Amino acid sequence: MAQQVTKAVIPAAGLGTRFLPATKAMPKEMLPVVDKPAIQYVVEEAVDAGLHDVLMVTGRNKNALENHFDRATELEASLAKKGDTDRLEKVNYSTDLADMHYVRQGDPKGLGHAVLRARMHVGDQPFAVLLGDDIIDARDPLLSRMLEVQAQRNATVVALLEVDPDSIHLYGAAAVESTDEEDVVRITGLVEKPDRESAPSNLAIIGRYVLRPEVFDVLERTEPGKGGEIQLTDALQTLAADEELAGGVYGVVFRGRRYDTGDRLDYIKAIVQLAVDRADLGPDLRPWLREFASGLEDTPAAHEIVEEMTATPSDSLAAGEN
Ligand code: G1P
Repeated sequence: MAQQVTKAVIPAAGLGTRFLPATKAMPKEMLPVVDKPAIQYVVEEAVDAGLHDVLMVTGRNKNALENHFDRATELEASLAKKGDTDRLEKVNYSTDLADMHYVRQGDPKGLGHAVLRARMHVGDQPFAVLLGDDIIDARDPLLSRMLEVQAQRNATVVALLEVDPDSIHLYGAAAVESTDEEDVVRITGLVEKPDRESAPSNLAIIGRYVLRPEVFDVLERTEPGKGGEIQLTDALQTLAADEELAGGVYGVVFRGRRYDTGDRLDYIKAIVQLAVDRADLGPDLRPWLREFASGLEDTPAAHEIVEEMTATPSDSLAAGEN
């Protein structure tokens, strides 16, 4: 019988170098996606799946994360005085959202190392790990399905997404076998960030995991892998290779909406995608976007792109693009 999962671990110690200088003095997890910091979507997702106990693995420069989920007495008093109950509610909502805990990673030795830092807090129970760069649309619940599969199979469960084979080098990739459930696969092997040619499939691990506590012992023994870091994927590969250890590894294949906020272009796309669906912003944003997009055809930037696309090979060589 699988123990019920009650705890979520959110690694949030990354430096956010892709967003410099915005992240020079501010954690990347605090970047707003529409009007909420990216990290709040992730905590809300954990809570929606019934996980109210949230441990964040942070680092230096991350105090804003703790402040965001804590009382802001002066701000609350000022909003209350003005009778601005709507905004006061928003402020209080993030304070009361979850039972928040924090531990620092110390040395940045990789995702596997960050998860290992959760050991004391998690103890001897299965737990979820949610990575902050991925936002899963609240209308397409993924984590609750993963928890269901974990409870049925008492195994390790990861979220998988079919990606363009050209992008598989950005993810952990899985070799899989089908099961009797359409959205569940058994994972027979995992490789961290393989090149396209050596990838076992185009099924990528997206940042959601439900792990059994045995993973901690495995992580302790896991040598640094890709990029010289202790990789969670490598520990999961050990668990996939030996079913006796902790019941094997399964994947839930996700087909819903997922937004990547990990790099600048995807971050911009995520904001637009989420904002057009919002009742308070969508009705004004949609027609504006249409007009803006149609106007793009006439801008100089678009002409440059067209010229580049229609350039002859000798043109591009001359331009030094090869
Ligand atoms: C991490 C994991 C990788 C996973 C990815 C999902 O990589 O190591 O296996 O596919 O998250 O977002 P990162 O993106 O932190 O480099």
